[in-house]
Amino acid sequence: MTVPVNVTVTGAAGQIGYALLFRVASGQLLGPDVPVRLRLLEVPQAVKAAEGTAMELEDCAFPLLAGIDIFDDPTAAFDGVNVGLLVGARPRGPGMERSDLLAANGGIFGPQGKAINAGAADDVRILVVGNPANTNALIASAHAPDVPADRFNAMMRLDHNRALAQLALKAGVPVRDVANVIIWGNHSAKQYPDIAHAVVDGKSAVDIVNDDAWVRDTFVPTVAKRGAAVIEARGLSSAASAANAAMAHVNDWVNGTPEGVWTSVAMPSDGSYGVPEGLVCGFPARAKNGAWEIVQGLEIDAYAREKIDVSVAELIEERDAVTELGLL
Ligand code: NAI
Repeated sequence: MTVPVNVTVTGAAGQIGYALLFRVASGQLLGPDVPVRLRLLEVPQAVKAAEGTAMELEDCAFPLLAGIDIFDDPTAAFDGVNVGLLVGARPRGPGMERSDLLAANGGIFGPQGKAINAGAADDVRILVVGNPANTNALIASAHAPDVPADRFNAMMRLDHNRALAQLALKAGVPVRDVANVIIWGNHSAKQYPDIAHAVVDGKSAVDIVNDDAWVRDTFVPTVAKRGAAVIEARGLSSAASAANAAMAHVNDWVNGTPEGVWTSVAMPSDGSYGVPEGLVCGFPARAKNGAWEIVQGLEIDAYAREKIDVSVAELIEERDAVTELGLL
C-alpha cells in the first residue's frame, strides 16, 4: 500500500466536519487508490465530540483510512500535513464588531499558519473554509513564510456550485451541461458571480438566458446571499454543500480540472485582472500538475469591472484591518 496522505481537518467536531470526514475517509478527496490518515484538530472542549466522530469513522471500516489522531494543539495536528482543511473558525457573536471577528480569527489562523510552517510536508496544500475565509487564508499564509503563498487557498467553490445550479435551473438544463461561471472577489455577500464567459450546452450562457435583468437582479443576489437563505430555512448554515465544495476543490487541485473547464478559487493574486498582488481573491482557475493557474485574457466589461472592484475593495479593507491589528 502506498504511504497514506496526512489530511488535517480543523473544526472536526462541527457541522461541516461531520459532513466532510466520512467522505475524506472513503477516498473521495484524493482518489480511490489513495490511503489517508486523518488528523483532527479541535478546541479542548470539543475533543470529546471529535472522539465520538472518530469512533463512527472506525465503525465504517473504510479500507483507505489508515488512522485517526485527535489533537487540541495545532503544532501536533499539522505535523506532516499534506492536505489541510481549515474549517474551524470563530463565528460572529451577537454585538461583535467586524474588527472583533477579524481579531478572534487572527488568533486562530496565525498560530495555525505557524504550525503549518513548522511541520508541513513539502507538498502541503491548505484550503481555508472557516470565515472570513479569504482573510483567514491571508493571515495563515503570512505566518508560514517557508510555505509558498500559492499553497494557501480560500474556498469559493460553494459559491461557484450555487451559481452553476441557479444557471442550470434558469436554462432548464441539467447542471452537468453548465460550465465556466466565475465567482470573483471575496467569499461574502459582495462577491461577484459572473456568467459572461459561462457556457450552457457549449453555447454562450448570456445568449441562452438572454435576460440581463434576471442576471443582475435575481441571479447575482441569489448566489451571493444563498448562505443567508440556507440559514433562514434550515436554522443552521450550509454544511453538506460546504463539505462537498471542499472535496471538489481539493480533488481538482491535486488531480486537475477537466479539459476546457475552469472553477473558482480564492488564491493570492499575482496582479491578474487588476487585483492587488497578494490579496486572496476569487478568480477563474484551472489546475494542472497539482497547481492552479488563473485563467487569463477574459474580457471584463464595465459592469463586471465595477462589481469586481467593490469586492476587491472589501478584501483590501479586511487586509488593512488585520494589518492594523498586527495580525499579518
Ligand atoms: P460549527 O460551529 O458547526 O463548527 C466549527 C467547529 O470549529 C466547532 O466544533 C469548533 O469547536 C471548532 N473550532 C473553533 N475554533 C477552533 C480552533 N481554533 N481550532 C480547531 N477547531 C476550532 O461551524 P460549521 O458550520 O462547521 O462552519 C465552520 C466554518 O465554515 C464557519 O466559519 C462558517 O462560516 C464557514 N463556512 C464557510 C463556507 C465557505 O463557502 N467558505 C460555507 C459554509 C460555512
